[in-house]
Amino acid sequence: MNTPPPLETAERLSWNDSLLLGYTPMDAVHQEFVQCVTALQEASDADLPERMAQLIAHAQAHFGEEDRWMAQTQFPALECHVNEHAAVMSSLLEVQALLAQGHTAICRDLALELVRWFPGHADYLDAALAHWMCKQRLGGKPVVLRRKMA
Ligand SMILES: [Fe+2]
Ligand SMILES: [Fe+2]
Repeated sequence: MNTPPPLETAERLSWNDSLLLGYTPMDAVHQEFVQCVTALQEASDADLPERMAQLIAHAQAHFGEEDRWMAQTQFPALECHVNEHAAVMSSLLEVQALLAQGHTAICRDLALELVRWFPGHADYLDAALAHWMCKQRLGGKPVVLRRKMA
């Protein structure tokens, strides 16, 4: 396929309030993610490598930042979220390598997979982190209950 599928028939991510998680730095980066995936879907074959490189740069910053927030604040459910970022990152790099060999269809399949993956990731893993980060920022440190020492 030389041209992207028509807008009205393709599954897209569109930024809307249901994607807002309430932690502003994360919401901003998520809006950028939506833009990067849409830009990849709308790219001609010739533009795919550049859009893919932009998406990878975005993902490195996006996932890296969330991973850092979790590490810095001792987020309790860190591992599962970090692992999911790493799995997506390795798919992106794998597809980038295939794209460099001329496999454009797999790149378009990846864009569609990202469209389907993101709302669930945001709803489940990112939402929990956003809630946690808001609590940290408001100074709501975890309450530690200690037994009275005799
Ligand atoms: Fe995220
Ligand atoms: Fe995430």
